[in-house]
Amino acid sequence: MRAALIGGGGFVGVALTAELRRRGVDVRVVSRRAGAAADAGVEWRVCASARQLPQAVAGCDCVVNLAGILNKRHFHADDFRRVHIRLVEDIVAACGEAGVSRLLHVSALNASRNAPSEYLRTKGEGEDCAHAAAGIRTTSFRPSVIFGRGDSFLNRFAALLKWAPGVFPLACADTMFAPVFVGDVARAMADSLGGDGAGGERLPLCGPQDRSLREIVEYTAHLAGRRINVVGLPDTLSLMQARVLECLPGKPFSMDNYLSLQVDSVCDDARRCAVAMEEVAPDYIGAAR
Ligand SMILES: NC(=O)c1ccc[n+]([C@@H]2O[C@H](COP(=O)([O-])OP(=O)(O)OC[C@H]3O[C@@H](n4cnc5c(N)ncnc54)[C@H](OP(=O)(O)O)[C@@H]3O)[C@@H](O)[C@H]2O)c1
Repeated sequence: MRAALIGGGGFVGVALTAELRRRGVDVRVVSRRAGAAADAGVEWRVCASARQLPQAVAGCDCVVNLAGILNKRHFHADDFRRVHIRLVEDIVAACGEAGVSRLLHVSALNASRNAPSEYLRTKGEGEDCAHAAAGIRTTSFRPSVIFGRGDSFLNRFAALLKWAPGVFPLACADTMFAPVFVGDVARAMADSLGGDGAGGERLPLCGPQDRSLREIVEYTAHLAGRRINVVGLPDTLSLMQARVLECLPGKPFSMDNYLSLQVDSVCDDARRCAVAMEEVAPDYIGAAR
C-alpha cells in the first residue's frame, strides 16, 4: 500500500510517516518545499500548485490531508479559506482524476460552520467538503490540541516562559483542552487506513485528561524549571492582548485564536486516547532545560 501525505512534512505528518512505515506502508510526502525522504520507503514529492496535485497523488491507494494553518499571514485575508477549503476541493478533484478512492482528512475538534472563529469555521467547511466527495471513502479526524516532541504548543509556551519576569499573563486561562499525544493521533489514522470501515466517520481525538490552559502552562513552567505565577486575564484584557499580539510578527496570539478559545476543546468520555502529557512532555520540555 502507498499513501500520499499532503503537508506530510509537518509535526503530525512526521509521526504518521513513522507509524505507516512501521506497518509496511510506502509513504509519499507531498510538500510545497524541497525536502529529504527519511528512509527507503519514503518518497518526497514537491507540489507547488493545484495543477500538480493529480500527478502528486497518482499511483497511491490513499491520500491523507494534513495541511492546516493556525493563523492568517498579515495582509492575506484569504489564507484560511485557501488552505482549509479550496485546497480540500483541489485534493478531492485530484483524487477523482487520479482514481484514488480513500481519503483521510485532519480537521479539528469543534470545527463547524457555526463555530466562533474563522479557523474553526473554515476547518468545518473543509471537513464537509471532504465528506461530500462522490466516489471517495473519507474519514476525518478531529483532534484537541496535539503534544509531542516538536509540537508548537508546549514548546511555544516553554519558549515564552523563558522570558517571563516571574509573572505570566494568560488569556482565556480557563478554557479546557484534552491534549492528545501525536503518536496516538498517528496510530488512530493508521488503524483507520488498515480497517475496512465504510468511510464517513468523523472521529474526535482526545487525550485521557482534561486540563485548563492555566494548568497546562503551569505544568510547562514546572518542566522548564521556571517559578512563574500564571495570572489568568479577565475577558476584556484577554481580548486586548489578542489585539496587540496579532500585530506582532508571527502573531503569537490573534483575535481568531481568542475566538477559538471561547469553546472548550474536549470530548465526551466515550473515546479517549491513552497517552497523557505527563508521560511524554518531560522528555522534551525538561530536556530542553
Ligand atoms: N498540532 C495541533 O495541535 C493540531 C490540533 C488540531 C488540528 N490540527 C490539524 O492537524 C493538521 C496537521 O497539523 P500539524 O500540527 O502537523 O501542523 P504543521 O506542522 O504546521 O503542518 C501542517 C502542514 O500544512 C502544510 N501547509 C501549510 N500551509 C499550506 C498551504 N498554503 N498549502 C498547502 N499546504 C500547506 C505545510 O506543508 P508544506 O509546508 O510541507 O507544504 C505543513 O507541513 C493540520 O490540519 C492542523 O490544522 C493540529
